[in-house]
Amino acid sequence: MNLNIAVLAGDGIGPEISKVGVDVLNAIAKKYNHTFTYQYAHCGAEAIDLLGDPFPAETLAICQNADAVFFSAVGHPKYDNDPTAPKRPEQGLLAMRKQLGLFANVRPIECFKNVMHQSPIKTEILQGSDFICIRELTGGMYFGEKYQDNDKAFDTNYYTRPEIERILKVGFEYALKRKKHLTVVDKANVLASSRLWRQIAQEMEPMYPEVTVDYMYVDNAAMRLILSPTFFDVIVTENTFGDILTDEASVISGSMGLLPSASVGTGTPVFEPIHGSWPEAAGKNIANPLAQILSAAMLLEHFGLEQEGKTIRQAVQASMDAGIVTADLAGDAQAYSTTQVGEWVVNYVASY
Ligand code: IPM
Ligand code: MN
Repeated sequence: MNLNIAVLAGDGIGPEISKVGVDVLNAIAKKYNHTFTYQYAHCGAEAIDLLGDPFPAETLAICQNADAVFFSAVGHPKYDNDPTAPKRPEQGLLAMRKQLGLFANVRPIECFKNVMHQSPIKTEILQGSDFICIRELTGGMYFGEKYQDNDKAFDTNYYTRPEIERILKVGFEYALKRKKHLTVVDKANVLASSRLWRQIAQEMEPMYPEVTVDYMYVDNAAMRLILSPTFFDVIVTENTFGDILTDEASVISGSMGLLPSASVGTGTPVFEPIHGSWPEAAGKNIANPLAQILSAAMLLEHFGLEQEGKTIRQAVQASMDAGIVTADLAGDAQAYSTTQVGEWVVNYVASY
């Protein structure tokens, strides 16, 4: 297969993990006789510095012309403590999602054997956890009308029926492919937007008679995720709740550095780790590249390359079984660098 992949490495640890991800894609291409070509493009803080825009027009064009975007991370501390900065790196990520029409963000959460004990949650609670969070990605407070002056500020949690229907459809369809259990997470006891979500989900239920649907308030969901993660199969929720719950859910897998995601919708799909740019670690060769590598697996699977995706997943599990892991997963054992983990996975793929 020929795939033209836009590579947006971004900021912080982004370039380091991006390079490892591309190395793994190249190892797959070689092994399975595919041709992957890469177009590199700027985004985030580095794009502001270079071109004055966190998601420049040339980056959009490269993404639009690609089959997939392989994204890493954006963010820089100089913006975090400057709430009045006119341009922010994160706006680049949001612009990309919006302009590519990526309304569904798919975040699978699983526990990996041999690193499960790195989670602060007891193994007996974690064992068997395996669910997907479908986060709405182009609506809600992130994109609703905003206002900010010195005395007041607001963000509007705005959702329309078509936006809600299309993301719930993704949720129902994932549930059909899995254990047929969908949990709609909202705050319908307080928020009008949530009540519309719940109403539409109830209207859609008869179209998916095989799916068991339950409705859970987001505060309760936050607790249930930690108390009984095995309860969940597919979660569907709005943008902000999905952002918060998936950071929390990453604790289940033992490290944020393990969670990949796929963003899909009307334009070029994006594959990216859920973690951020971790500026303190930038250039130190210590960041866990596995979320980026697993994002490569999701990319390949998106194009029907199941065996290729499986090869990557097995390589990732094997690296953990062999204890070839970065500091976040090493505990008291020896920690390996980003590039060492990457090389190990590449070699595993090559000799698979
Ligand atoms: C994520 C990130 C982004 C988000 C930030 C960087 C804007 O936290 O992908 O979860 O909030 O969506
Ligand atoms: Mn987030």
